[in-house]
Amino acid sequence: MRKFSRATVYFASGTGNSYLLAAWFRDACVTKGIPAALIPVTRADPSRDITPASGELVALAFPTHGGLPPWSVIKFLLRMPRRRGTSFLCLPTRGSLYIGPVLVPGAAILASFLPSILLLFKGFRPVGAASFDMPVNMTSMHPTVTSRHAARISARAKRKFDRYIARFFRAGSLWLTRNNLYEAVWSFLILYFFPLFPLLYLVVGRFFMGKIMFATDRCTGCGTCAASCPAGALVMKGKKRPRPFWRYNCEHCLRCLNFCPHRAVGASLPWAAFLWWLGTAAAAGGAVFAKLTALIPGLESVRGYWTVELVNSVVYYPVFIAAYFLFYCLTRWKPVNVLLSWTCPSFFLVQYRAPETSLKDLTGG
Ligand SMILES: Cc1cc2nc3c(=O)[nH]c(=O)nc-3n(C[C@H](O)[C@H](O)[C@H](O)COP(=O)(O)O)c2cc1C
Ligand code: SF4
Ligand code: SF4
Repeated sequence: MRKFSRATVYFASGTGNSYLLAAWFRDACVTKGIPAALIPVTRADPSRDITPASGELVALAFPTHGGLPPWSVIKFLLRMPRRRGTSFLCLPTRGSLYIGPVLVPGAAILASFLPSILLLFKGFRPVGAASFDMPVNMTSMHPTVTSRHAARISARAKRKFDRYIARFFRAGSLWLTRNNLYEAVWSFLILYFFPLFPLLYLVVGRFFMGKIMFATDRCTGCGTCAASCPAGALVMKGKKRPRPFWRYNCEHCLRCLNFCPHRAVGASLPWAAFLWWLGTAAAAGGAVFAKLTALIPGLESVRGYWTVELVNSVVYYPVFIAAYFLFYCLTRWKPVNVLLSWTCPSFFLVQYRAPETSLKDLTGG
């Protein structure tokens, strides 16, 4: 059994689920007599937080986004200092919900393994991974789980956590679990049938998701959302009537939507459909390129999967950027704002946040 002398527990969290998991882990360490610090990734300074001493354990809890860790978490892992032999435990949360009496589990997929692989290259010693079903938080797209269901899912996750952590501390390392087999099967299926899915989520999906957000007319311009955005993706624009503007580094963690004190953040589905159509229109750029290179002698050699995709992106991103700017301007016009608000599910739905979690917990402030 490996002895841990100290633990650094990092977390990234949009709506609190991963914070809760990190807090459970911190408490489990303290109960075992291991001093532990709980630090949000946004405030982390790994070169200072993680000492090179042996017996050091680093844990990281974060939400799954598109089968991967959020981009901010991947960047955080890439920035980690080299630490030979420091143990690393990966704790992703995934989204699940009850349909009738049946709990539909989420799948962390590559999020279960990618962080350990990245840190292996930095000299860390991955000692385990365990993903946990927490209440799904995508209130931008569908109704949230009821508070009764949320409490039931979290309580179930806590029981699973207690079982995992007891085994983990007994052995000092724990990989062979049914849960990891489930995630490995998902990872294999995704990589085999949709190998581009993770890349597409990172380069297109996350931008797309973040670009459907807007402030409805309930917004008072209080700035809470901008001050607490973990990605620093929100800026308040407008002197007389300040309103949040969603920048391109938004990763759709949904903190702004779920913690706005006036329930003023919307995610427009009609706008999402329009953006989708724009994406298809951009793909037409690639098709034209493919046709032209087929017609012009000597250019066939430059036509290939990647060059066509490159042309698509060259067309897609500027179109997308211009479209969002237009969207933002339109949402400041009352009739359009009202129309978009009333066609926006989050305008009517209850917000989601992890049970007994406050904004202060998430920002570490
Ligand atoms: C943009 C986005 C993508 C998501 N993708 C997945 C996914 O691929 N698999 C999954 O099980 N849950 C997915 N979820 C659900 C969250 O991972 C889950 O609810 C998580 O516990 C939220 O954690 P947080 O409250 O710490 O942000 C996604 C949520 C969002 C907002
Ligand atoms: S969207 Fe909500 S949190 Fe953000 S400025 Fe408006 S009222 Fe405040
Ligand atoms: S803008 Fe909102 S959804 Fe996007 S990263 Fe910031 S808090 Fe999360």
